[in-house]
Amino acid sequence: MAQHFFFPQKTYVDRRQQLMKSVKGGKILLLGNNESSRNYKDNWYPYRQDSSFLYYAGINLPGLALIIDCDGGEATLYGNNPSIDDIIWMGNQPSLEELASKVGIENVKPFHQLFLDVYHDMHYLPPYRPEHILMLEELLHLVELKPSDKLVSSIIAQRNIKSKEELEQLDQACTISAKMHKTVMQKAKPGMYEYELVGLASKVAMEHGGDFSFPPILTINGQTLHNHAHHNKIKKGDMILFDGGVEVSSGYCGDMTRTFPADKKYGSLQKNLYKIVHNAYTTARKMSKPGVYYQQVHLAAAKEITKGLKALGWMKGDVNAAVKAGAHALFFQHGLGHMLGLDVHDMENLGEENVGYDSTIKKSKQFGLRSLRLGRKLKEGFVLTIEPGLYVIPELIDKFEAEKKHLSFLNYNEINKYRDAGGIRIEDDFVVTKTGVRQLGDPLVTDVNEVEKLRN
Ligand code: GLY
Ligand code: MN
Ligand code: MN
Repeated sequence: MAQHFFFPQKTYVDRRQQLMKSVKGGKILLLGNNESSRNYKDNWYPYRQDSSFLYYAGINLPGLALIIDCDGGEATLYGNNPSIDDIIWMGNQPSLEELASKVGIENVKPFHQLFLDVYHDMHYLPPYRPEHILMLEELLHLVELKPSDKLVSSIIAQRNIKSKEELEQLDQACTISAKMHKTVMQKAKPGMYEYELVGLASKVAMEHGGDFSFPPILTINGQTLHNHAHHNKIKKGDMILFDGGVEVSSGYCGDMTRTFPADKKYGSLQKNLYKIVHNAYTTARKMSKPGVYYQQVHLAAAKEITKGLKALGWMKGDVNAAVKAGAHALFFQHGLGHMLGLDVHDMENLGEENVGYDSTIKKSKQFGLRSLRLGRKLKEGFVLTIEPGLYVIPELIDKFEAEKKHLSFLNYNEINKYRDAGGIRIEDDFVVTKTGVRQLGDPLVTDVNEVEKLRN
């Protein structure tokens, strides 16, 4: 594994200093990720460092831990220098002392020393990998772990605001993500299999030194929200939904979705539904700015969808009342967006609500709205996705109808005529500026006519 530092030493020193100031006292333990075996020990999944470790230590190698001493103002890296066997099989690496000096870490100790230096009321994060749960229990002699709320809230407050250096990486990730989407949109044809398009997409990600930032969704069944199957043959009349992003080698991610016709043009219903989603997307873009609750932006997008479906005769009644009741969630079941950064759903390992909500707003329990990952008031420097969608899920229609749900807002007779309409999502990535949002990376068309032009 090659080590490259994407930011100067000062960046990492400043990040740790800001963290120490915020946590105030005690010691912080950050565990780096290890290799993870796939089907036998030496056959690994692609390595991915823990994002908080990467953010504060910058070292993209397995087998490491970091202790930050808020009282002494120093950091110590724990790890082992490569043995001759490691060098034979994996190649030589810079020493841990050299790596530590590149990121301004003062001390280096062998990994086993961690067991002597750790004590039970240190600050640590909620673990998400089974081996880290076991290691923390062993290190701390605890049966029930107590991750530090103070550390969680300090890291979230810091990582939620992206610096200029981070935005450059995010711009790159989004530009390559857009290129990947454009390639798929230009090459797709009836008769191809979905997996052929996944192959073309991965080529674009990899030839730029990146990789997928999450398993791609590329499907003619866009109504299944997280559909990771790619075995279908694309037919005339289908729509193709591609939700995919590129992670660049610094770890920063893009996350984009386009839904386009397998033919050169959308069918007439497809076009009507697409325009509804596009209206929701542009409404949300215009409305997003510092001081606005993202939950309000989500609800405004939901109203656009409701208005559009009312015009089609699928919904009826007062638009505001329908959205308040959650009737639109028959078609828009997920949230408008989420934070984005080193993780596609940024810092979700620290608690989705800790990242996307705060003391002034709690997550709703209502179907649809409860899937909104980001609801809090927007601040300059937040990076987020805007991703409205419209999905016709026959099983959900049947359930709603059997339960006589929202009879005053839903025209089941009309809706049932279009049970195979599929699913549409449009997703792009933005940074919140002083006055609004700026799209990250080179933009890719979203307008219905421009998509059709690209398909030609
Ligand atoms: N790719 C999952 C999402 O858009 O949130
Ligand atoms: Mn997303
Ligand atoms: Mn996505």
